[in-house]
Amino acid sequence: MAIIYLDYAATTPVANEVTSKMMPYLTSTGIFANPASIQHSLGKQAEKIVEQSRLEIATILNTKSQKVYFTSGATESNNLVLKGLAFSKKHQGKHHIITSATEHKSILDCCKFLETQGFHVTYLRPDKTGLLDLDKLASAITRQTLIVSIMQVNNETGVIQDIAAIAKLCQQKNVFFHVDAAQSIGKLALDLATIKIDFLSVSGHKFYAPKGIGCLVIRDVRAADLMPLFHGGGQEKNLRAGTLPVHQVVAMSAALTLQQQRLQKDWNYLTQLRHCLFNTLSQLEGVQFNGNNQYSVPHIINVSFDDIPSEALLIALHETVAIATGSACNSGAMEASHVLRAMGIEGDRLYNAVRISFGRYTTKAEIKQAGQEICTQVQRLRALT
Ligand SMILES: Cc1ncc(COP(=O)(O)O)c(C=O)c1O
Repeated sequence: MAIIYLDYAATTPVANEVTSKMMPYLTSTGIFANPASIQHSLGKQAEKIVEQSRLEIATILNTKSQKVYFTSGATESNNLVLKGLAFSKKHQGKHHIITSATEHKSILDCCKFLETQGFHVTYLRPDKTGLLDLDKLASAITRQTLIVSIMQVNNETGVIQDIAAIAKLCQQKNVFFHVDAAQSIGKLALDLATIKIDFLSVSGHKFYAPKGIGCLVIRDVRAADLMPLFHGGGQEKNLRAGTLPVHQVVAMSAALTLQQQRLQKDWNYLTQLRHCLFNTLSQLEGVQFNGNNQYSVPHIINVSFDDIPSEALLIALHETVAIATGSACNSGAMEASHVLRAMGIEGDRLYNAVRISFGRYTTKAEIKQAGQEICTQVQRLRALT
């Protein structure tokens, strides 16, 4: 049996429609020139396609193309916002940052670093289902608060935060608002003209573009006055030095355009898959779903099986079903999820949690087969203990 890939929240395959669009920007017969080499027509052609892609992305998000800055992905965008803003505004005495304890490590580790640089960070804890309490957020904001950084969709549980309400609150309180939208762009419609988000981090490889491309959308670049992370060739209006990967930029725009066209269709399809998997797994005794079934994207399910540590289940499944414990980790060490811990989940339920995430190319047959295989392995492991 071929392994069934159910780790779409970690990364997605590149869509065929996207690869075919990016190929002409790689090879000697195509437009491979450096888009900054505008002294010659080949460079100008490359620049033109970059700007066209920027406009396509901006149009989908209902913003202006000048507000889109290409980066290598959401990790970089998150670092650029938090460190860039912190260092540029430090002298104004605004040393307070608010985020949630369930953010991705690229936010939390930035915040930890900024704490060593004299900043004070409030880590809001959500309720048991992963939702933030906006009253708690409102009362955490002080005159020293520089920025509130909250993700739209959680990568481990799929829980959706009410970013429209948070944006309103931040506007009233006159603090910057950053949204890590790595897991939501291409999955949820977002209108930047109606929701006032100062900074939005996007990651291409979560929506069928290649790894290594993303962007940061900045509402008012002058007000933000970010300090760049990289210094160099002055690309991206001096905010992000480095040669732009034209093929990646084209790919991200193509992938987002495709996603936009399929948004509702994919959502409906993934909801069917979710129900199917829920039903299969619910046949087992001792199954606990972690997250919020009402405010969630359909394609991420976090579940704990009584008596089965996640590590044992992942080992049992590693050649048949590709699932994960949570965010992809480089160390190889299995750590209990900081997201579930922050939600107040403890004991065996915390250590038994796995994340199952699927996408556009997952078939109903695969979901059924994977669900059965997970049930079989859980029962087998339970029998052993
Ligand atoms: C919520 C969230 N933020 C940030 C990232 C990092 O994105 P990238 O891989 O583009 O650096 C991820 C990826 O796992 C994510 O899920």
